[in-house]
Amino acid sequence: MTIRGMAKAGNKEKHYFQGFEADSDSFVQVNKNHTLQICVKRGVFMDALKWIWNYVKKYRLSMLIALIFTAFFIACAFIIPVVLGRIVDDVIYGCDTGLLFFYSFLLIASVLIKEAAIYIRHLIIENISQNAVKSIRNSLYGKLQSLDCSYFNRTRKGDIMSRLTMDTDAIRVLIAGTVPSLIDQLFFIVIGFGIMFSASPLLTWLLLSISPFIAIFAYFLSKYIKKDFIAMREANSRLNTVVAENISGNRVVKAYAKEEYEIEKFEERNEEYKNSFMAHIRTWIRYCPTMLFFVNLTYFIFTVVGGKLVIDGSLTVGQFTIFNGCLWCITSPMSSVGNFINQFQQFNASSLKIRQLEQEQSLIVNRNVKKRDTGINGKIQFKNVTFAYEADRVLKNINFTANAGDTIAIIGPTGSGKSTVINLIERFYDPTFGTVYIDDINVKNIDLATLRQNVASAMQDVFLFSDTIKNNIAYGAPNATYEDVERVAKAANAHDFISKMSDGYDTMVGERGVGLSGGQRQRISLARALLKNPAILILDDTTSALDMETEYNIQENLKESHRTKIIIAHRISSVKNADLILVLNHGNLIEWGTHDELMAQNGYYKGVFDHQFGDFDSAPSYHINHPANKGGSTNGN
Ligand SMILES: Nc1ncnc2c1ncn2[C@@H]1O[C@H](COP(=O)(O)OP(=O)(O)OP(=O)(O)O)[C@@H](O)[C@H]1O
Ligand SMILES: [Mg+2]
Repeated sequence: MTIRGMAKAGNKEKHYFQGFEADSDSFVQVNKNHTLQICVKRGVFMDALKWIWNYVKKYRLSMLIALIFTAFFIACAFIIPVVLGRIVDDVIYGCDTGLLFFYSFLLIASVLIKEAAIYIRHLIIENISQNAVKSIRNSLYGKLQSLDCSYFNRTRKGDIMSRLTMDTDAIRVLIAGTVPSLIDQLFFIVIGFGIMFSASPLLTWLLLSISPFIAIFAYFLSKYIKKDFIAMREANSRLNTVVAENISGNRVVKAYAKEEYEIEKFEERNEEYKNSFMAHIRTWIRYCPTMLFFVNLTYFIFTVVGGKLVIDGSLTVGQFTIFNGCLWCITSPMSSVGNFINQFQQFNASSLKIRQLEQEQSLIVNRNVKKRDTGINGKIQFKNVTFAYEADRVLKNINFTANAGDTIAIIGPTGSGKSTVINLIERFYDPTFGTVYIDDINVKNIDLATLRQNVASAMQDVFLFSDTIKNNIAYGAPNATYEDVERVAKAANAHDFISKMSDGYDTMVGERGVGLSGGQRQRISLARALLKNPAILILDDTTSALDMETEYNIQENLKESHRTKIIIAHRISSVKNADLILVLNHGNLIEWGTHDELMAQNGYYKGVFDHQFGDFDSAPSYHINHPANKGGSTNGN
C-alpha cells in the first residue's frame, strides 16, 4: 500500500491513501511492518451519535410512543415464561385445573398483544428512520448543489454516490434496527436479571460470571472491525466510480474496443471490494465464535447447576421452568454483542463520510450583498488577473476591458486558458490574484444568483439532461412558453432539425444527448443559453461542430442583440467581426485588438489567419513567440 499524496486546501491538510481521503476524523498511520492503516480518531463515535440525534430529535413524540409499545411487548415477553412456570407449579404439580383456563387466556392475550405491539412499534420506528434518512439525503444533495467546481474536481463520482446510498442506508439500519434492538436487550437484561435473581441468586450470578470474557472479546472485535468498515466503504466507492465512469464513457470504451480492459478494471475493483469484505469476515471469525462459545457455556452451567438445585430441592421445577424461559434474556444480548458492534461501527464509518460532506465549504462564497433589481449591463473588466487551479498558473496577469454590448472573441491554442477566463466571469472559480469586474463591481460583491441569472453560457462540453428537447432548452427559464422555446431554437438554427424529429420538441434525449449529433447538441445548448436572455452571453467553442453556413446564420441571428458576447473559437471566421479579439497563449494575453489591428501586428493571429485562409507560405508567426520573450505583462486596456 502506498500513500498517494498529500494536499493542502485552505487550512485543511489532507492525505490521499489509495483513494481514501483522510479528514479531521481519520488519519493514515504507518505500522511497524511498513504497512499503512486507516485510523479513526478517538471520541468520534460520540460525535456521530450527537450528529444523528439532530436528525431524529424532532420525532421525540413518536419515539416515546414507540417506547410505550416496547414496554407492552417486553412485559408480554416476560409474562409468557412466568405463566408457563405457574402452569407447571400450580396446574401440573398443584393439581389446580381451574387455573388452567385463566393461565391459557393470559398466554393467548400476551402473545397477541406482544405481536401487535411489535408490529406497531416497527411501523413507527421505520417511519422515523426513513424520515431521518430522507432529511440526510436532502441535506447532502442540497450541500452538493452549493459546492463549487473544485470539490467536484477532487471528489470521485462513486464516492458521492456511496455517501447518498450505502452510507445513508447504514444510518437507517442504526435507527430502525440497532438502537431499538439495543433498548430491547437492555430491558431484557434488567427485567430478566430481576426475575432470575428472585428465583435463584446463586445460579444468576454464576451465569453472569461469563460476561467479562465476552466483554474482552467484544472489545477486540470492535477495535478491528472499525477499520474494516472504513476500508470496505472505500472499496465500495472505488467500485461505484468505475461503474459510473464506464456508463458515462461507454462510447469511448466501444470506440477504442476497450471492453476487455474495462472488464478487467471492474474485476480488479470488485476483487478489492470482495477482499475488504473477506477481511471483515476474518476479523469476525477470529472473535465471534469464541464469544458464542461463552454464550453456549451458560446453557451448560444452567443445566448442570440448575438440575442439581432442583434435585437438592432448593429450586422448584416451576422456578426452573421460569429460569429456562428467561435465560435468553442474558444469552440473547450476549450473542448479539457482535452484531451490535458490527452495526455501530458501520454507522460510525458511514456517518464519518456523510459528516465530512456536510462540513465541506464552498470556496466560492456568496457575500451577503444586496440583490440588484436593475440587473446587469454587461461591462466586463479583468484587472491583473492571475489564476491557478492547483500549483501552476493557468492565467497570468490578464487585463482587458469590454464595454456593455461589445463582442469579445478569445482565440488561442488548446489549453491556453480560454475557458478558464469565462470560468472566472461566471465565478465557477475566483482569481488567485487580481479582480474581475462586471459593471465596475467586483464579481465577488455581486449576488451569485443575480450574476448567474445574467450570464449564460453554451459550454464547450455540452450536457443535455435525459428529458425532452423543450425542457432542455427551457432549463434556465422553466416558465417559457412553446413559442419562446421555438424563437430561441430558430435563433440557434435548431428549429429545422427539431421539427423534423418524430416528436419534435417533445423528443426525449439521453443523459448526454445521445441520439443527437455534436452540432445538434451545440445548437440546443445555444438555444438554452439564449432563452435566459442574458446580459452576457458566452459561447465556448459552441459553433465548432457546425458547418460554415450554419455558423454564419447563427452569427447573423445574434448580431441584433445588445448583449455582451464572448465568443471562444478556433476559426478566424467566428471571431473576426468582434470588437475586441484577445489572443491567449500559455495563460498570457499575447495580442489584443480588432481583426485589422491584429492583422497589422503580424503576430500569432495573422499566422492563424494565413493558415486558415490558405496562405500557408506567409504564415511564419504561427509559431508563437512566448510572451516572456516579448517582455513583461500584457495589457488590453
Ligand atoms: N479543472 C481543472 N483542474 C486543473 N487544471 C485544469 C482544469 N481545467 C483546465 N485545467 C488546465 O488549465 C489549462 C487551461 O485550460 P482551459 O480549459 O482554460 O484551456 P482552453 O484554452 O479552453 O483549451 P481548449 O481550446 O482545449 O478548450 C490547461 O492546461 C488545463 O490542463
Ligand atoms: Mg476550452
